[in-house]
Amino acid sequence: MIYITGDTHNLEDMSNLSTSNMKFCCRQQAADYKSIENVIVLGDFGLPWYNCPVDEGGILPKNGSDAYLLKWYSQKPFQIFAVQGNHENYDMIEKLPQEQMFGGTVLRLSYNVFYLKRGEIYNIEDKSFLVLGGAASTDKIFRTPHESWWEQEEWTKEEQAACLAKIEEHGNKFDYVLSHTGTTKGIALADPYYSDAARLAELQLDSTVCFNDKIDSLITYKKWFFGHWHSDWGYENYAETKYVPLYHEGIVIKSNSQEALPE
Ligand SMILES: [Fe+2]
Repeated sequence: MIYITGDTHNLEDMSNLSTSNMKFCCRQQAADYKSIENVIVLGDFGLPWYNCPVDEGGILPKNGSDAYLLKWYSQKPFQIFAVQGNHENYDMIEKLPQEQMFGGTVLRLSYNVFYLKRGEIYNIEDKSFLVLGGAASTDKIFRTPHESWWEQEEWTKEEQAACLAKIEEHGNKFDYVLSHTGTTKGIALADPYYSDAARLAELQLDSTVCFNDKIDSLITYKKWFFGHWHSDWGYENYAETKYVPLYHEGIVIKSNSQEALPE
């Protein structure tokens, strides 16, 4: 079973993955917490935040909060996969060891914690996932490059072209899409500020939103999960929407065999 939740921001929102919070969300969806094998965080994972050594097993944090958090995650009875957000140390992400998993390349932080690569397609528990990621930080003028802000948060043209080619190769059809910021339509649901056209147009300043909109026009899928807007609107309205913004709450995706079981 897969559990999808929103931004964790290093220690700040690690409680998204607390046993009590996850059990609460599972109960609301008639799902068994013990069946969770894979957890997905929709970006702004923020680990590691500080530069540290890397070996073939993942990161070796020297900073206290990074080390504490990695140890806390290592005690979880599931694997954790993070979509790449905007508040991530991309210089470290670029150094992580790569390996093949779910039919795509993942980046290893430890034996049970990984980043998903943006532009990859994965088959997780028999469901196809298109993984996007990134966003433009609106607060970047207050941040320090390579210390608290990384320009790699936005896609390069080459990355976008490679992703579009992969989508076409896959037949433009997926079960689920995972991203950090959303599509224009999805963001309008997550944040009431964007309830009028002039404000919606502001979103086009973010190259990642424009890219997400383009992909949205090219593919079919069941649900599009995203974080970044710190809204649980998608949890509250899951049955009625294909755009699913999440923050603290988690949506359960049961495997085909679990779905077939009687309640
Ligand atoms: Fe965030």
